[in-house]
Amino acid sequence: MSDFPRSSLRVFRTVDDLNDAALEVVREILAGSRGESGEIHLALAGGSTPRGLYQRLAEDDDIDWNGVHLWFGDERTVPHDHDDSNYKMAVESLIQHVPVPTERIHRMRGEDDPVAAAEEYEARLQRHISARLDGRPVFDLILLGMGDDGHTASLFPGTTALEERKRLVVANEVPQLSTTRITLTYPVLNAARTVLFLVSGASKAPALAAVVAGGDEAPPAARVRPERGELLWFVDQAAAGELP
Ligand code: 6PG
Repeated sequence: MSDFPRSSLRVFRTVDDLNDAALEVVREILAGSRGESGEIHLALAGGSTPRGLYQRLAEDDDIDWNGVHLWFGDERTVPHDHDDSNYKMAVESLIQHVPVPTERIHRMRGEDDPVAAAEEYEARLQRHISARLDGRPVFDLILLGMGDDGHTASLFPGTTALEERKRLVVANEVPQLSTTRITLTYPVLNAARTVLFLVSGASKAPALAAVVAGGDEAPPAARVRPERGELLWFVDQAAAGELP
C-alpha cells in the first residue's frame, strides 16, 4: 500500500494549465505574511520545466517582490554564464525582469570547488533564513522538478547525497552524468513550509508512477515529504500517463 499523499497530486490537461496554477500558488505565497523578518525565501528549480512559470512571474506586475530572497535547489558545476547553469536560466526567464536586488539573489557558485561552494551556500542559508525547524532553515517555498530517473534537485538515484542527514547543502558526485553537482539535501527540503513539484511530459510518466507507488524502491523525488509543510505535485496529463 502506497503512503504517497494522493491529495498532494493535481493533474492538469496541459503544461500551460499547470503553469497557470503554479503561478497562483507562488502569487499567494508572495502576497502572504513576511513574518518578523519581513522576508520570504523562495528556492528556484533548475532544468527546463520551470521556465514557463518563471516567465509568468516575470510578466506579473502585481507581485510584491519586497523582502523576497531567491535561492536555488541545485546547480551544475559550471560558470554562472554557462548554458547549463540553472542560474543563467533563471536570470534569463525571471531574475533580470523583476526588482530583486543582487543582495537577495543567492547563487550557488558552480565555478568554485563544489565542496567549498556547498559549504559557502550552507553558511549563507544559516545566515539569511531566520525561520527554523529543529535548527534547520525553513524556506517559504521550494520549487522542484523531477528527472526521467526520478531525481530531484541533484539528488540522483544511487548517489551519496541521498543518505545525508545533517548537511543542508552538499557536493554530490553523479557518476551517471560524470559530474559533480551542488544540491540542497532532504533535511532542508523537508523543513520547508511548501514544496511544489512541477512535472511535465510523457518521459516523466514511469518515474511519477514509481513515486506514487512508493515503497523502498521509490525514486529520490518520493522522499521529499515536508515534515510540517505542504507538499504539492503539479503534473500534466502526459506525465500522469502511467498513474493507476
Ligand atoms: C537540474 C534540476 C533537475 C531538474 C530535473 C527536471 O539541475 O537539472 O534541478 O532536478 O528539475 O532534471 O529537468 P527538466 O525540467 O528539464 O525536465
